[in-house]
Amino acid sequence: MTLVFAHRGYSQAYPENTMKAFKEAALAGAHGLELDVQLTKDGQLVVIHDEKVDRTTNGKGFVKDFTFKEIRKLDASYKKKRLLQKEPIPSLEEVLEWMTTNQIICNIELKNGVFPYKGMEEKVIDLIHTYKMKDRVILSSFNHYSIVYCYRIDQEIETAPLFSEGLYMPWVYAQSIGAKSIHPRHTAAPNELVRASIEYGIAVRPYTVNKEKDLQRFFAIGCSAVITDDPVKALQIRNR
Ligand code: G3P
Ligand code: CA
Repeated sequence: MTLVFAHRGYSQAYPENTMKAFKEAALAGAHGLELDVQLTKDGQLVVIHDEKVDRTTNGKGFVKDFTFKEIRKLDASYKKKRLLQKEPIPSLEEVLEWMTTNQIICNIELKNGVFPYKGMEEKVIDLIHTYKMKDRVILSSFNHYSIVYCYRIDQEIETAPLFSEGLYMPWVYAQSIGAKSIHPRHTAAPNELVRASIEYGIAVRPYTVNKEKDLQRFFAIGCSAVITDDPVKALQIRNR
């Protein structure tokens, strides 16, 4: 049965990419999380979608120009005023540590398409080893060179290239780079493409699937998972 992954946590209702959004997704029954990582000036992996902190926090500037200590002082719940409590930008380590207390799956998206973030792949994979999370983590990126590199570092960790537009025969492409899955934008995932990929043994997890008719389509086809902002709605539709 298709699993439900909470995109940036339960981001429909809580500040995206925060521990609050991850914990609420788990409480709601999501099977997995999707989150984004960037690297600070002093080489720490932090969970935030944009290269800049401006959209989601009360700070300004590039993540790469903050030290970890500095970036932790920002409030990532700033744009969702109904949260009274401050929510710091999590470290990836904090998320993996919390995952030792539950069974949730984590899709880590390496946000290394704008800045190359030297050493990011090694740092992510080292942490996965430290927390023994090989079987519960999927590494994805729009930077497919990075996906290939992750596969070279550790072939036992599942990788998934992300793509937002039509990719010709993605199952052949995935097999050629050692990826066990693909994460297409939902608009780039027509039924024939999804069915053929599954038939060739490639798992498909489309993003970001929020509309009922799209969720129903992917549940009916039997995708491995849908990545959605609203895991509660997706689970309701799936379990009808
Ligand atoms: O991983 C799927 C999705 O998160 C990719 O797009 O921009 O939301 O990170 P974006
Ligand atoms: Ca993402």
